[in-house]
Amino acid sequence: MKVLVTGASGMIGRSLSDALFARGDEVIGLSRDPGRARAANPRVEWVRWEPTLERPPAAAFAGVEGVVNLAGESIAQRWSADAKRRILESRRTGTRNLVQAIEGLERRPAVLVSQSAIGFYGNRGEEALDEGSAAGTGFDSEVVREWEQAARPVESAGVRLVIVRTGHVLDPRGGFLGELLPPFRLGLGGPLAGGAQYVSWIHRDDEVGILLWALDTDAVTGVVNATAPEPATNRELSKQLGRALGRPAVVPVPGFVLDLRFGPEFGRVARGGQRVLPRRTQELGYRFAHPRLDEALGDLL
Ligand SMILES: NC(=O)c1ccc[n+]([C@@H]2O[C@H](COP(=O)([O-])OP(=O)(O)OC[C@H]3O[C@@H](n4cnc5c(N)ncnc54)[C@H](OP(=O)(O)O)[C@@H]3O)[C@@H](O)[C@H]2O)c1
Repeated sequence: MKVLVTGASGMIGRSLSDALFARGDEVIGLSRDPGRARAANPRVEWVRWEPTLERPPAAAFAGVEGVVNLAGESIAQRWSADAKRRILESRRTGTRNLVQAIEGLERRPAVLVSQSAIGFYGNRGEEALDEGSAAGTGFDSEVVREWEQAARPVESAGVRLVIVRTGHVLDPRGGFLGELLPPFRLGLGGPLAGGAQYVSWIHRDDEVGILLWALDTDAVTGVVNATAPEPATNRELSKQLGRALGRPAVVPVPGFVLDLRFGPEFGRVARGGQRVLPRRTQELGYRFAHPRLDEALGDLL
């Protein structure tokens, strides 16, 4: 299968590309900087694309059967006005441009798997949330709603659409786990901001597994959550991480540390949490390779 991936140079995109190659697929990667991307991953066929400025070139879609849309400015940063604009437009305008390019093709791919995030649900405490739950409030929820909305018109063009609402992808190379590892390795980790908030995590192999399953399975359409079936509290996650590293994880980390690192607005979001369950994902038949946190962390570390 020939698969076109936006954001193929990112943390998830790299793992997805490796998994596609491992099963004999071809990968077309769209990047703002194909030279840099090629140096990091020469097996991908790179094509230049500025998501907020233009539609991807029609030639990039030649022979493409599936598209995975991962591109987006990182949300883990200080939310200045400029950063907020980049976070929103890289997803809203980027996805709109991608969909319009697909609509304009003579031969369209069969499926668009468009990334989304559990930020959709907002900060919801202990409430159990699934794909049918209503959207939350706040900038991150607003961005995710716009991101999903921008993908929807592709269905009217006869392309199957799967929206993958992804939780915290556990990968030691970056993201949530990449942030936590340095202090935990020094024995300076512990529950964050009280530790009662839920962390809806997913092992990187299951994130990639769900993207591949969504590409391959004709019966899968609409929204599916990519989160492990047992979300953990931050306190439990800290304990399991300390155990996996053979380090105590007893130093409580006050919430303001997040404000110092990311500014108050993203700091507040990072202190919050949501308890997300992959109800539809499991009903539609996806089987998790790493459903348990202790095993998942042991495997990754
Ligand atoms: N990692 C997680 O835990 C997680 C959880 C939920 C959702 N997600 C979402 O999944 C997607 C992939 O995640 P990731 O962790 O792989 O992200 P990542 O490592 O930050 O990679 C995202 C890619 O998007 C492109 N990009 C970055 N800033 C951009 C901008 N301003 N405009 C247009 N393109 C831009 C970059 O590609 P080029 O530089 O090559 O153009 C980059 O490689 C993101 O949209 C992210 O929000 C991730």
